Amino acid sequence: MAIQIFTNISLIVNTREESVLLRGKELAHLPVIRDGYIVIEDDIIAELGKMEDFKHASSQSTNLDVGTILLPCWCDSHTHLVFSGSRENEFVDKIKGLSYADIAAKGGGILNSARRLNATSEDELFISSWKRLEEVSKMGTGAIEIKSGYGLSLEGELKMLRVIKRLKEKSPLLIKSTFLGAHAYPSEYKDNHEEYIRLIVNEMLPAIAKDKLADYIDVFCEKGFFSPDEMEMVCTAGKKFGLKPKLHVNQLNSIGGIERAVRLGAVSLDHLETLSEDEISFLGKFTGCATLLPTAAFFLGMHCSPARDLINSGAAVTLASDFNPGSSPSGNMNFVISLSCIEMKMLPEEAINAATINGAFAMEIEKECGSISVGKKANLIFTKPVSSLAYLPYSFGNNQIDKVMLNGSFI
Ligand code: NIG
Ligand code: FE
Repeated sequence: MAIQIFTNISLIVNTREESVLLRGKELAHLPVIRDGYIVIEDDIIAELGKMEDFKHASSQSTNLDVGTILLPCWCDSHTHLVFSGSRENEFVDKIKGLSYADIAAKGGGILNSARRLNATSEDELFISSWKRLEEVSKMGTGAIEIKSGYGLSLEGELKMLRVIKRLKEKSPLLIKSTFLGAHAYPSEYKDNHEEYIRLIVNEMLPAIAKDKLADYIDVFCEKGFFSPDEMEMVCTAGKKFGLKPKLHVNQLNSIGGIERAVRLGAVSLDHLETLSEDEISFLGKFTGCATLLPTAAFFLGMHCSPARDLINSGAAVTLASDFNPGSSPSGNMNFVISLSCIEMKMLPEEAINAATINGAFAMEIEKECGSISVGKKANLIFTKPVSSLAYLPYSFGNNQIDKVMLNGSFI
């Protein structure tokens, strides 16, 4: 058995013994150990405590620099990390004044990414996605959800999901896979929604289930995309194949997706930029995660979600990157956390909980990840020497990570 011991750690963050989904005021409670040590056996956290209780031979341990903070790796529960090609031409169009809807109408947006994805080989797609996964892991992400949704054809969706499966098998990150065939209507089904839904239900879902290619099902419930009724049809079919819903709702418009999604038993409701007061109180009672994606709102020049109101209502606010080529071309969770503090007035403690333990709940991996607790995976961020925890979101855009450990090994 390989044993690693680290001592004189200025701060060990999120050292909770019990993993519970944090709601409302609980989000501000971030348990820490000051001046601590940690013992790792193989890939698992075996012991941690205060230096005054340290009983191992100090010759076996590595003393860390004063100011080093140890955090659990980020659990990024909403990404579209598998994609082909970038969309900076649309970025420039937006600078010139075109809206998200104008760009979609020009054949841009999701359909642009779908065209490119269908023209890309599975191996090329794997290589580019692998590089992105390596990049986000260096920025501290240890567990990640990845969606399909740029295939929008039987072959394209299966290709994306097979790439995610290969990433799962080869990568040290813990990965969850979500089928998002209902991301947009391909142009040939623009006027025949029933037929595309039939393709999802009768052809895509059985093929996905046969090869166990997905853990969850997602739908982009939005004006001009999928209505709440259409979302319900897709999710009901997905649930028959054992896929629980994790859904895109209320990004641009409030069209009744939230109530419907809750009735469908969603694990998480994601985006939530556009919310009525009733919806905010409703989300306070929703037992799953309210997942906010502030970098997407930031990149699109929209207002961010009302995180403070959601926390006041008792919601289980969770943070994720939404890494995708259209609305969040970055999977940097450190920036997500900074932005949550700057734009959504979340406290650093709330943001860190939302991006770790609550993110783990949004992927149902809270027994393995999301906190620095005995028995969980040794997925750890070692910071450079910093003056305090709040320094991390404060120094936005600067890299404060010294090294990242996944499953007990430094990457
Ligand atoms: O989560 N909103 C829908 N889907 C993505 C954007 C996809 C794209 O523009 O390629 C999102 O923001
Ligand atoms: Fe998304």
